[in-house]
Amino acid sequence: MSSPEAVSAPRPRPAEPTHVDLRVRVGTVALENPIIAASGTFGYGVEFAPLVNLNHLGGLVVKGLSIEPMAGAASPRICETASGMVNAIGLQNIGVRAFVSEKLPELRRFKTAIVANVFGKTITEYVEVIRILEDAEGLAAYELNISCPNVESGGIEYSTDPKLTSAVVSAARQAAKRPLWVKLSPSIGIIALTAKAAEAEGADALVVANTFPALCIDGHIRKSRLGSTTGGLSGAAIKPITIIGLGGIESPADVAEYMLAGSSAVEVGTAHFVDPRASEKLVGGLEMWCRYENIFEISTLRGALRE
Ligand SMILES: Cc1cc2nc3c(=O)[nH]c(=O)nc-3n(C[C@H](O)[C@H](O)[C@H](O)COP(=O)(O)O)c2cc1C
Repeated sequence: MSSPEAVSAPRPRPAEPTHVDLRVRVGTVALENPIIAASGTFGYGVEFAPLVNLNHLGGLVVKGLSIEPMAGAASPRICETASGMVNAIGLQNIGVRAFVSEKLPELRRFKTAIVANVFGKTITEYVEVIRILEDAEGLAAYELNISCPNVESGGIEYSTDPKLTSAVVSAARQAAKRPLWVKLSPSIGIIALTAKAAEAEGADALVVANTFPALCIDGHIRKSRLGSTTGGLSGAAIKPITIIGLGGIESPADVAEYMLAGSSAVEVGTAHFVDPRASEKLVGGLEMWCRYENIFEISTLRGALRE
């Protein structure tokens, strides 16, 4: 028997970690946390700086960059759907040279990882964009958007054909010294084929996925609600069918879902149209979610889905 004093003495509590370690790695790229703003939904980052502390984000992917500036598609360019939106922006952008001279100098002052989203109508254009970016400082990685029509193959999207995927990734790999992330299209039969092709040609990471082809019709005027007829569906509606990387992420539990399914990090897109601070708020929310779940290292979630 122990003495009454001993019984009432407080039991030592295990030391609680003082913070949640949100750090993750995507290939060789180290991020302070797994939240990355997705391409096309966060401008060139700098436009959001008055509203969002960019230093709080794990990273941001800038709007897709082409060799020449592009004016984009006819309006209307977006329409809201149940639990999501359909967009047809037509890859409007200021062109890679203007990005390097006008946006990057301001952007590189932030300590968040800056990822350049790259696309082209031909493989040569992809390579040219990368070459120009290679001479610039302040980028953590390239994200190759291969959901673009290849004008040399009758307009077939690179991402719909493993051979075209191999060709564009191989050429980009040779041009790029920085890490190369390949962003796949979800709208093909077996995504594993293009994923394997990209991996075999040296992709450092796969970003899954881009938007799903979609159409919104206005019954009154009997026409598409979008200027370029069809567009891409994004938002919460696509979360259960992409489930690695990005698509419809809005809450800390969504981030956990994606990480449990195998994602190293996630990108947040459509949520910025509801709240421009969505990704910054997610970083704080994720830390609280982890505490509640007694998780002190977020990287332990990755691939930890139970059978
Ligand atoms: C308005 C808009 C513009 C986009 N522009 C691009 C782009 O230029 N390049 C790209 O790779 N993805 C682009 N995307 C796709 C997003 O980066 C993301 O893959 C997709 O929206 C799914 O994520 P979400 O459901 O969180 O929005 C765009 C999406 C939207 C909504």
